Amino acid sequence: MTDIVERLEELRERGLHRRLRLVEGRQGPRVQLDGKPVLLLCSNNYLGLADHPRVREAASAAALRWGTGAGGSRLISGNMEPHRQLEERLAAFKGYEAALLFGSGYLANVGTISALAGRGGVVFSDELNHASIVDGCRLSRAETFVYRHADLEHLKWGLRQAGGHGSLIVTDGVFSMDGDIAPLAELAALARRHACRLMVDEAHATGALGPGGRGSVAAAELGGEVDLIVGTLGKALGSYGAYVCASAETVEYLLNAARSFVFSTAPPPPALAAAQAALELLEEDPAQVGRLGANAATLREALAAEGLGTGASRTQIVPLRVGEAGLTMELSERLLERGVFAQGIRPPTVPEGSSRLRFSVMATHSEDELLEAARLAGEAARELGVVSVPTPLAA
Ligand SMILES: Cc1ncc(COP(=O)(O)O)c(C=O)c1O
Repeated sequence: MTDIVERLEELRERGLHRRLRLVEGRQGPRVQLDGKPVLLLCSNNYLGLADHPRVREAASAAALRWGTGAGGSRLISGNMEPHRQLEERLAAFKGYEAALLFGSGYLANVGTISALAGRGGVVFSDELNHASIVDGCRLSRAETFVYRHADLEHLKWGLRQAGGHGSLIVTDGVFSMDGDIAPLAELAALARRHACRLMVDEAHATGALGPGGRGSVAAAELGGEVDLIVGTLGKALGSYGAYVCASAETVEYLLNAARSFVFSTAPPPPALAAAQAALELLEEDPAQVGRLGANAATLREALAAEGLGTGASRTQIVPLRVGEAGLTMELSERLLERGVFAQGIRPPTVPEGSSRLRFSVMATHSEDELLEAARLAGEAARELGVVSVPTPLAA
């Protein structure tokens, strides 16, 4: 018992203690946070589809038709029509032979990596990959070579050292805390040259990049060269769950070998129906992807005009790097007092000394809302003496 008290105290002292805030109502561009109206600038509901009437109706219709739960893992009794339908839609959307649904992106990464790599193999993982990739590498028991962020020379060196034992190169397509894009063409060439599989996590790229929001792999025209992509249903697709797209053979293997698939209850029909409706809306109106990109550029430019740099961000994820954890949380609070909610992100989510506000833009924000948020961020940053180095704007 005491060690828990001590550990909590230590987190408080280091400015790393977290608490839950309550968002009331639906996830729109504006919400009530702990009872106070705020502009929401830290939701991954990038296209606003979690709040779309057709998506909500699809979920409620599915609950009435199929019930609320799948009742078991897919391999026991949980495999239902909505699973098959959505897998076919996702595979077609992403241009792959097959897809396999998982309960969440975390489960998809952990299960897929540990099924593909094992003792004696080497997994190559970007240092800024999402925690679920890190945990998948750990669970695989393969050796993990963590290459410096997007550093191809470092990766090449690691591949040479592995001398033919390389199993998998794995990367976020869009990095979740920095908003930059992985050098996918080069990674694909290296994977080919070293006979490794390449896996790209499209959690933040689906609905945001590429033709019709098909993601970073489609944007780089690399469909045939990336062996597996992971995508989530909980971000731009406004629901909950995840999927892996790959060859039919790989999917057949994963459904036998990915333990987070085999030993976990299948995603519930209402969540799948919601994601399918969101996918249909995305296909019907691909212009919303452009609106998201334009909104992100507006925020980046407005922050730059306030003297606030946003690093290498090229997407709807716009980090405002502060450095120290306590100061980051103070900036988040000052901004919240002004009616803007942008969560402070601290270790272990980001490396020590690189705490930041992570703004995430939605296609449904108005230009005025974003300009005002940047102005208020500038005001709060000046008040606290936060210096964020201005960086050249993305092309
Ligand atoms: C890059 C990336 N992969 C995977 C996940 C996990 O997805 P989920 O929230 O569905 O577990 C996240 C975030 O949550 C993420 O940012």
